[in-house]
Amino acid sequence: MKTPSPFDAIIIGSGIAGLHSALRLAETGRAVLVVTKKKIAHTATNFAQGGIAAVLSQTDDVEKHSEDTLEAGAFHNNKRAVSYMVKHGAASIRRLIEYGVPFATHGGELLLTREGGHSERRIVFVSDYTGKAVEEVLVKRAKKHPLITIWEDATAGDFIVRDGHCLGVEVIQEGEVTKIYASAVILASGGVGQIYAYTTNPLISTGDGIAMAHRAGCTTRDLEFIQFHPTAFHHGGKTRFLISEAVRGEGAHLLNSKHKRFMVGRHPRAELAPRDIVSREIYKEERDGPVYLDLRHKDPVKVHTRFPQISAALKKYGFDMARDLIPISPAAHYLCGGVEVDLKGRTSLPGLFAFGEVAWTGVHGANRLASNSLLEALVFSERIVDEIRGTVRGDKSMNSQINGPPPSARGTNLPPCTPSQKRLYAKLRRSLQKTMWESAGIIRTEEGLKKGLSEVKAAEKLIQNPDSLEGRELSNMLTASELIILAALRRKTSLGCHFRSDSED
Ligand code: SIN
Repeated sequence: MKTPSPFDAIIIGSGIAGLHSALRLAETGRAVLVVTKKKIAHTATNFAQGGIAAVLSQTDDVEKHSEDTLEAGAFHNNKRAVSYMVKHGAASIRRLIEYGVPFATHGGELLLTREGGHSERRIVFVSDYTGKAVEEVLVKRAKKHPLITIWEDATAGDFIVRDGHCLGVEVIQEGEVTKIYASAVILASGGVGQIYAYTTNPLISTGDGIAMAHRAGCTTRDLEFIQFHPTAFHHGGKTRFLISEAVRGEGAHLLNSKHKRFMVGRHPRAELAPRDIVSREIYKEERDGPVYLDLRHKDPVKVHTRFPQISAALKKYGFDMARDLIPISPAAHYLCGGVEVDLKGRTSLPGLFAFGEVAWTGVHGANRLASNSLLEALVFSERIVDEIRGTVRGDKSMNSQINGPPPSARGTNLPPCTPSQKRLYAKLRRSLQKTMWESAGIIRTEEGLKKGLSEVKAAEKLIQNPDSLEGRELSNMLTASELIILAALRRKTSLGCHFRSDSED
């Protein structure tokens, strides 16, 4: 275990929100610690295929991008936040280009693709692995920066709160809990996808940030709005991986079990309707059999060239992306709500900031517009520099601001988890994922949600050894699930990606 040292800021999470804030802070002379649960690039950002939306073409403007964002969000969005994000989108893309992200270009101009809910081509991309390309560039820069320290395989425990201020966070590494203090603690720990049986999210997405912030007394908002991505490759009864919406943006059709294009006539944009609508229509069609993506009408060379990673991944399962019907199914993809923050990323707990999927800025409303997530993380984490410049001096002695300087201190060892406890946790995890899929999934009812809630509460009582690393993760998953179900129960009518089949609306 490394000897703890004082930092100006601690960042929990190493996706685009975490690393971008780390770089922006370090560039202004602040010493930053990035704490990441697995290896630095094991983040949801790495899984984002499509791209980043921004107003970059002559035919586009901020009003159109705002309007599309609001329409996808069922007008439940925070309009100020939407307008702020959209206006600053192009500048954020330019910064990524300066950092070295190799967005696709033609004749020196950025190439723009399209996804569901967008009235214009406005998505910059790097082939079909945009998130991975962005993550690689940010990781490389962060690793090189002398003011950025990265701790991998380091799990955040609880925030250290005193006199109504967040002073730091417990960090667990190699079974040892260490208290680390800093003036600013930045939560950028991502989403909750792993609480569902089918998800496009990586294994780290277990809702830790939501649960930690909730325990620290922070306000959460709009947690009922879980976005289900319409097209995850579904094979052998399992969700295998995401198939980007950009595939439909480039003309793929959706076919039902009778090989009919069922989205035509159900929405003016057919396959490119907002995600919540497409996901629900697929879910309904699946009652009669599997649903497929179809690219057989497209030029096979173009398909394989435009989507090399998806194409190669499908090939491993014996599918030719351009010639075969590709079985797909919706999967939990993105948490539109989160820990409430203002436009400066401040949570309701002074000293604690949040950015990215874990945070609620209100830009996504009741359903996120495709490719707005990396944009939100970028634009709002940019604000951290302006905000922290005023409060964090960059001399590593700012702990004296709040009741004297608490030293970073080494702590206790965690109780180890026995093999039988590990088996119990794995079983509880699987049953939670099934419960959440069935009760708080694509189509919800009050009865189903109440049943889900009682199952989650029953599971909470079964956790043995809750202080172990595995016990903490499962507890976080259960807390996040409970909060999501409670939010879904409170919203009695359908809105965006929260669909109540027992409501009249
Ligand atoms: C996709 O490529 O379809 C995912 C991108 C996103 O969630 O915005």
